[in-house]
Amino acid sequence: MTQYPWKMVCTSCDAEYPALEVRYRCDCGSTLDVKHDLARFTDGRAPAPTRQGFDARLASRKRLDRSGVWRFRELILPLEPENVVTKPEGNTNLYPAPRVASWAGMDALWLKHEGENPTGSFKDRGMTAGMSAARALGMERVAVASTGNTSASVASYAAQAGMKAYVFVPDGNIAYGKLCQALAYGARTLQIRGDFDAAMSLVQAVCQKEGIYLLNSVNPFRIEGQKAIGMEIVQDLDWQVPDWIVVPGGNLGNNTAIAKGLVEMKAVGLIDRLPRIAVIQAAGANPLYNAWHSDGVLRPVKAKTLASAIKIGDPVSFGRSWGWLKALGGVVEQVTDQEIMDAKAQVDAQGIGAEPASCATVAGLKKLVASGIISPQAQVCGVLTGHVLKDPDAAVAYHRGTLEGIESSSANKPVVVDAQLDSVLRALD
Ligand SMILES: Cc1ncc(COP(=O)(O)O)c(C=O)c1O
Ligand SMILES: [Zn+2]
Repeated sequence: MTQYPWKMVCTSCDAEYPALEVRYRCDCGSTLDVKHDLARFTDGRAPAPTRQGFDARLASRKRLDRSGVWRFRELILPLEPENVVTKPEGNTNLYPAPRVASWAGMDALWLKHEGENPTGSFKDRGMTAGMSAARALGMERVAVASTGNTSASVASYAAQAGMKAYVFVPDGNIAYGKLCQALAYGARTLQIRGDFDAAMSLVQAVCQKEGIYLLNSVNPFRIEGQKAIGMEIVQDLDWQVPDWIVVPGGNLGNNTAIAKGLVEMKAVGLIDRLPRIAVIQAAGANPLYNAWHSDGVLRPVKAKTLASAIKIGDPVSFGRSWGWLKALGGVVEQVTDQEIMDAKAQVDAQGIGAEPASCATVAGLKKLVASGIISPQAQVCGVLTGHVLKDPDAAVAYHRGTLEGIESSSANKPVVVDAQLDSVLRALD
C-alpha cells in the first residue's frame, strides 16, 4: 500500500484519517483538511521545494510541470504521476488593470484571471486534484452539485478520465455558458427543482447511497488544487507577496484554499510573509458576512443575487474557512447586485471581461478602499473567478438596459441601422 506524505484531519475535533479513502467528513460531521507532512522537507526525508525549482518547471515540456497546479505538486498532492488527470490547467494571466484601479480608488491593481482556465473558471484547479484522487481511488463515477462552473469542469475532466459524471444544477438558475458545457461534455445533467443548497444536500445523499465519488469542494482534494491560485500569484509576482488578495465568496472554498496554500508556503520558507485576504459576498447571499460581523455563527440564508455563481445560502466550507481567514488577517465585505454590475462594466471595459460573480471582487475592493481598510497604495491582487462568456445573457441585458432592477449606467448599447452608408456613418458616434 502506498504511503502518501499527508493525512486527513478534521477541521473541528482534530481526528485523523488515512491519506486516501472515500471520505469527505469526519465522524463528527465536520469537513476534513489535507494535512501535509511538511517536516519531511526540513528533516531530510524529501528535497525541499525551492523558488528556482518551481521557476525551472515553467520552461519544462513535461505535462505535470506545465500545469499551474501540478507544478506545485509537492505542496498540493504528491500522487503517482500516472493517476494525475490534467489538461493542464492554471497558468492564467495576471493583468495590470489601471482603469479599474482608478475607478476603485487604487493607484494600481492586478487582476488574476482564473476564467482563463480550460473550462473557463478556477474550478479546473480543484477538479484536476479531485479527479486525480478519484482515479487513485479507482472510482468510475463522480458527481457534483453546482451553480454551473463546477458542473462544466467535472464534465470535462470526467470525459478526459473516461469516468461518468453526474451534475445537479438548480433548474432555471444556471448561466447558459455553463449548462452548455455540462451537456456538451456528456455529463448526466439533473436540473433540480430547487436552489443550489437543495441540490447540494441531494448530491451528498446520492453519493453516499450509490457509492459515487463526490467532487464538490467539501472534497478536501479540491481545496488542495485551488491552493495553486495563491501560489501562482506569488510566482507571477516574482516571489513578492502582495499586500492583499481579494476573492468573491460563495461556498468559501477559494478563500480557504488560497490562505491554506500560502500559510504552507510560508511554513516551508518559500515566502517570508503572508498577504491579507478580503472575501466579498453578494449582499443577497451573505452568510459569512453576517457571521463575521456578529457572533461567528452560520445562519443559512435564502440566497438571492443575479451573480448566480455565488448564489449560495449555506456554504459547505464555512467552518473550515474561519481559521484560515483569521490566519491571513481576513476581512469580509458585501456588495449589492448594482455594485457588482457596475464593477463588471469596468472590468469588461478594460478588455479583460469576467462573469458577474467574479466582479464582486472589484466591487468589494472599491468599498474597502472607500472605508479606509485597504490603502490606495497597497499592492492588491483581485481574483476574477470566471470567464465573461460564462454568462453572456447578463452582459447583453446590462448593455441593452434590460437587466431587471439594475441601472445600466455604463451601458454600451447596440445600435440598429439601415444597411446604407449614410445611416452607418451617422451611427458611428
Ligand atoms: C465564478 C465563480 N466565482 C466564485 C465562486 C465561489 O467560489 P467559492 O465557492 O470557492 O467561494 C464560484 C463557485 O461556484 C464561481 O463559479
Ligand atoms: Zn471531527
